[in-house]
Amino acid sequence: ADPGLVDRFGRHAVDLRVSLTDRCNLRCVYCMPAEGLPWLPNSDVLTDDEVIRLIRIAVERLGVEDVRFTGGEPLIRPGLTKIVTEVAALERRPQISLTTNGIGLERTAVALRDAGLDRINVSLDTLDDERFATLTRRRRLPDVLAGLRAAAEAGLTPVKINTVLMRGINDDEAPALLGFALEHGYELRFIEQMPLDAQHGWDRSTMVTAEEILRDLRAAFTLLPDPVARGGAPAETWLVDGHQALGGGPARVGVIGTVTRPFCGDCDRTRLTADGQVRACLFATEESDLRAALRSGASDEDLADRWRVAMWGKRAGHGIDDPTFLQPARPMSAIGG
Ligand code: GTP
Ligand code: 5AD
Ligand code: SF4
Repeated sequence: ADPGLVDRFGRHAVDLRVSLTDRCNLRCVYCMPAEGLPWLPNSDVLTDDEVIRLIRIAVERLGVEDVRFTGGEPLIRPGLTKIVTEVAALERRPQISLTTNGIGLERTAVALRDAGLDRINVSLDTLDDERFATLTRRRRLPDVLAGLRAAAEAGLTPVKINTVLMRGINDDEAPALLGFALEHGYELRFIEQMPLDAQHGWDRSTMVTAEEILRDLRAAFTLLPDPVARGGAPAETWLVDGHQALGGGPARVGVIGTVTRPFCGDCDRTRLTADGQVRACLFATEESDLRAALRSGASDEDLADRWRVAMWGKRAGHGIDDPTFLQPARPMSAIGG
């Protein structure tokens, strides 16, 4: 049988993250500057049909089982519903998920579910209007809350929330956010801030760590070990004692401790950028240009081979702790998280 996307450390990538645009309608301070970034020119961005073809190759030839759409902000990609529909129609239908900031989700959740989207993760860093405006430089908190509700009502479950805590802005909000998530049946995950911002403003000494977050949560809640195996998931999870999520499932909370609790050894991811580059890792400094190959007439098998080669070269870990660590040239918003 085809070994699929393997690397020299024995990891097997079955989870594909596809960035559909590098643009965004928010300006989160840990991601990009207030003025935005020089966006990819449209002619460099894969067309809907090109994206669909590459996903088909990944699913049908390379053993990809999960496809997650990201951005920038994927809801602003005009062809999103069409792309989801076509991916859901593939012969070995993958699980299809989306990571969004939630703006516009209120209007699109039902159509996305009908197209075949299975579940959704929404970014939400604070429950306070002023803090939201400070963190995202836009006053859109009500839109995000409405988007979360619409996703849950549409059955795009479990609805997960991603939270980045920033020192001096929302670092005291972990218990309140967990209370909110429990009340609504959302699965909350805290993400350690990563050195992937376009401004290169990341500073380890001010980063809110997994340990600190867990200490704050444990002061207000009892966390029990989660019997569900983590697999390749970035989030380490706990069950919140005495709480049941809406729908009766166990109430979970997670921490994605990329920096202080790296999980690279279990990584099962491969990435495709909006401009058709394969990235073996979030922190990769090299990419493999599938767009150029595709546009010069490469066959499916040739494209699959290039993807295999790109993944074989995946490094053992992110290397954030190495003295020689360099941030990738491509910022988070153009990688897709
Ligand atoms: P689930 O399948 O719902 O667990 O999705 P996810 O948590 O993998 O995806 P999501 O897009 O919600 O990402 C949440 C956070 O995890 C983001 O900050 C991502 O950048 C981060 N993340 C996703 N994949 C990786 C990875 O391979 N390595 C690291 N270090 N972080 C990752
Ligand atoms: N560090 C950690 N998380 C980040 N995100 C964006 N930039 C960073 C960063 N530098 C988060 C977003 C979103 C998820 C996909 O990644 O807030 O929830
Ligand atoms: Fe947009 Fe996501 Fe970056 Fe915030 S973190 S500016 S929502 S791409």
